[in-house]
Amino acid sequence: MQQKSSSPKDVLAELKKQRALDQKYRDGRILCSMCTTPHPVAKKAFDLFFESNLGDSGLFPVAAQLEREVVSQLANLLGSESACGFIVSGGTEANLLAILAAKNMANKERPEVVLPQSAHFSFTKICNMLNIKPVYAPLDDAYRVKPAAVEAFINRNTVAIVGTAGTPELGAIDPVDALAKIALRHDVHLHVDAAFGGLVIPFLEGTKPPFDFSLDGVRSVTVDPHKMGLAAIPAGGIFFRDQKTLDAIKTETPYLTDSYQYTFVGTRTGASTASAWAVLRVLGREGFQKMVAQCMKNTRYLTKNLEKGGFSLLCKPTLNIIGFRGENTKHLADQLRNRGWFVSYVSRYDCIRIVVMPHIRRRDAVAFMRDLKAARTE
Ligand SMILES: Cc1ncc(COP(=O)(O)O)c(C=O)c1O
Repeated sequence: MQQKSSSPKDVLAELKKQRALDQKYRDGRILCSMCTTPHPVAKKAFDLFFESNLGDSGLFPVAAQLEREVVSQLANLLGSESACGFIVSGGTEANLLAILAAKNMANKERPEVVLPQSAHFSFTKICNMLNIKPVYAPLDDAYRVKPAAVEAFINRNTVAIVGTAGTPELGAIDPVDALAKIALRHDVHLHVDAAFGGLVIPFLEGTKPPFDFSLDGVRSVTVDPHKMGLAAIPAGGIFFRDQKTLDAIKTETPYLTDSYQYTFVGTRTGASTASAWAVLRVLGREGFQKMVAQCMKNTRYLTKNLEKGGFSLLCKPTLNIIGFRGENTKHLADQLRNRGWFVSYVSRYDCIRIVVMPHIRRRDAVAFMRDLKAARTE
C-alpha cells in the first residue's frame, strides 16, 4: 500500500483509463459469455442497496424481504408456490448448496453423484470439496444425457442425480421428465442445473420441455439472475422444493442478527438481489419474452448463415447457444480472436461455441459472419 493518500478524483480517473482496456459487452464482440450488460435499472437498484449485507439480514430487513420476493417470483416461474431458497454468489454456489443438501439428507458413507458428461465444471469442484465420487453418464446424439445410463449408475451410495437445462457448451436440455421419474423410483435427490436455461426456457415460443418443480421428482433447481436475468453480478439462485431439504444445510450463527445461515458465503451483498428484483419488476414476463425472442432470432440468423457457409452445427440449438465446426476449427477460433472476436473453442467437441446474449445485435452477427468467412481462408 502506498504511504500517501490520493484524491478520489485522481484515483477514479486512473481507474477509468484502466477500465477502457477491458472488454465491454456493448462492443458486441463477446460471444463466449453467459453474462451480459445488466439492465440499466439493475445498476441503479444496486447503488441503492450498495452497503447491505444479507449475511446479517436483521440489519437489512428490506433487502432480506427483496430476496424473499425474488425467490418467490422465480420459484413461481419454476412451477412452485412454496419452493424456498436464496440469491447466492452464482451457479457454482447454488449447485454446491443443492449437492450439500442431498448429501446431508442421504447420509451415505461413500456418497456418489450421477452427472451428465455435459455437466458444468462446478460439479467437479463440488465433488472435490464434499468428498463425493462423481459418476458421469453418457450423452445421446443431441448431447442430452441418456436417462437409462443414469439409472444404471444409481446404487446404494448415490445421493443425487443431476440434469442440466441449458448445458454450458451447447445449451442442450436434458430429458428432465425422464430423470424425475427415475429419481422418484429410486427415492434419490434430482437437482436441475438451469443456471442459464432457467430464465430462457420459460420464455421460449411454442412448447417448452419440462425441467422444473412441475415435475414431482425435482428437489432443487439452480437459476442465475446474473446470466439471462440481466441482474448485476453476484446473483445466482438456488431453489429447494421444501423447507426440509433446505434445513439440511442450516448452520447456527452464534452472534449475528439471524440465528441461522443457509448459504456458503457469509457476508453477501443485497445489492445484486435488489438489482434482480428491479429487473423482474421492470421487464415482467412480457419483457423477458421480448428479450429471449430477440436472442433466438439472432441465433437463427447465425445458424442459417453458418450452414449456408458450409459450417456444420453440432446440434440444432434449443437455446441461444451455438456449437459449430469448420475444417480446422481450433485454428479458426484463433483467427477469430486475432480479429477481435471472443469465442470459445471447446476441445472435447472440437467446436466453436457462441452464446447469443442480449448484447449481440444483428449488426454484430452480420460482422461476425463476414469475419468468419474471411478468417477461414487465412
Ligand atoms: C449450467 C451452468 N451451471 C453453473 C454455472 C456456474 O455459474 P457461475 O459461474 O455463476 O458460478 C454455469 C456458468 O456458466 C453454467 O452455465
